Amino acid sequence: MSAETHDPLHRYTPLQASDEPYTEEQLAGLRADAQTIIAKYPQKRSALLPLLHLIQSVDGYVTGRGVDLCAELLDLTRAEVSGVATFYTQYKRHPNGEYTVGVCTNTLCAIMGGDQIFDEVSEHLGIGHDETTPDGKITLERVECNAACDFAPVVMANWEFFDNQTPESTKQLVDDLRAGTPVAPTRGASRVCTFKQVSRMLAGFEDGLADEGVGAGPASIEGLKLAKERGWTAPGDQASAGDAGDSTGTTTEDTTSDPAPETGDEHSSAAQPGTDEEKDA
Ligand code: FES
Repeated sequence: MSAETHDPLHRYTPLQASDEPYTEEQLAGLRADAQTIIAKYPQKRSALLPLLHLIQSVDGYVTGRGVDLCAELLDLTRAEVSGVATFYTQYKRHPNGEYTVGVCTNTLCAIMGGDQIFDEVSEHLGIGHDETTPDGKITLERVECNAACDFAPVVMANWEFFDNQTPESTKQLVDDLRAGTPVAPTRGASRVCTFKQVSRMLAGFEDGLADEGVGAGPASIEGLKLAKERGWTAPGDQASAGDAGDSTGTTTEDTTSDPAPETGDEHSSAAQPGTDEEKDA
């Protein structure tokens, strides 16, 4: 999608676009926060990743002045800082939208509808990958696997999960985000913070939302539930036996004497050697 056609924001803004100096107040805040971060590490150069998030929490992306400040604080060269800032996709090289909406188009999500979601949302917003809506609200991205394949297709809004999405639900999501209508992720925190707020949290300053809400949804723990019901454990894994609530510490072979619960009969693909399914076969 060309910039000329849809006039998206920021795509071609160079890293050095913001070279005007920080205000004294901004600089004092950044330096104080940076010292808090640097103090966590035995070698201060190790603080670069959170410092770059800190820069984004103020500037909205990794600016030239932010690169200068990181280099000065960590005794690095600008090239060393830029090399890191340009390597990781969470560091933005141009002004980012208030909300990064990432559509997973990795293999499983793609075949479950992720490609279709991306295409329709892209057309709906009039922007392509790594482009931002003219109101500065939404940056659209294709993202790689979010380790949430059991909820495919998955969409992330500032790295909060929106599971089992459709083109329509994702278009509604971006419309709500642009309108300022509160949206609730499927799992995790109960709301979606702004890019700058999330960046500050990633810099190491807690926002109080950690561990809020459900982490693993039903689809993620279906296998665990089935294993508990049937008393299955990994071979030789006594710790798992305890976790599975099997007070006898049975091995896989031992499960041959356990009657399979009715709830597991429909999961034929989960049949294990020595289970009732195999004996019946
Ligand atoms: S492929 Fe999309 S979450 Fe894994």
